[in-house]
Amino acid sequence: MLIVALDPPTGLDAFKWISTRLRLLEGIVSGFKIGLPALLRLGIDRVREIVKTYSSKDLLLIADLKLADVGFVMKLSAEVISYAGFNAIIAHSFIGVEGALEVLAQRCRELGLRLITVVSMTHPAASKMFDPILEQLINIAKEVGSWGIVVPATRPNVIRRARQLVGSEIKILAPGVGAQGATPGEAICSGADYEIVGRSITYSEDPYRAALQILSEQRERVARCRG
Ligand code: XMP
Repeated sequence: MLIVALDPPTGLDAFKWISTRLRLLEGIVSGFKIGLPALLRLGIDRVREIVKTYSSKDLLLIADLKLADVGFVMKLSAEVISYAGFNAIIAHSFIGVEGALEVLAQRCRELGLRLITVVSMTHPAASKMFDPILEQLINIAKEVGSWGIVVPATRPNVIRRARQLVGSEIKILAPGVGAQGATPGEAICSGADYEIVGRSITYSEDPYRAALQILSEQRERVARCRG
C-alpha cells in the first residue's frame, strides 16, 4: 500500500516531471500526493490537466494543502481541489471542529472528497507539539468523520497508539519512509494502511525500479510481521 509524494525539484519543468512519474507509476501504486510546491508553480488549471487524466482510475489523488484556516476559507479551497480532479484533501486536526473542520468536512462530503487530517508529523518538533495532544487530535478527526489521518512512519509507537485510538474504521497514512529514515513496511506493521514515499522514488534515476524495490521490501516486512 504505497502512495507516492510528488514534490518536483526547483528548476525542472514541474508539469513534465509530475506527468512522467504518474505515467510510470500509476499501475503499481495505490495513489499520489501533490502538495504546495507543485500547486504554486503550476497553478490549479495546469495541475487539473495532469490530475484529470487519472480521476477515473482507482487511485487515491491527494491534495496535500495541510489546511488550517477558518471553515469558509477551507471550504473554498476544497472546491478548487475538487475542480482539479483530486479525490482527497489534507487538513490539520489542530484547527478544531466548530467553525473550522465541521465546515470543511461537510463540503468534502458534498463534493465526494475524502478528508484526511494530520494528527502528528515526522519532523523533530512534532513529538513536542503534537504527541502530548494526540488523543485530542484523533478525537477531532473522528468527530468530523475523517476518512484518514496522517501519522509519522518515523515513530512507530505513535502509529500503534493512533491505531488503538481510531479502531479499524479510519485509514492511517504514514509519511517518512525512505528519505526521512523509516524502512518500508515498518509503519504498516505498526498499524498503518498506507506508506507515503517521496524522494526515494521520485528523485531516483529510475523511479519505476525504485518503487518496485520499495513495494517488494514492504511486502517482505509485512509478511514477516504478520507471520
Ligand atoms: P519524502 O520525500 O520525505 O516525502 O519521502 C514525504 C512527503 O510526505 C509529506 N510529509 C508529511 N506530511 N505529515 C504530513 O502530513 C508529516 O509528518 C509529513 N512528513 C512528510 C511531505 O510533504 C512530502 O510530500
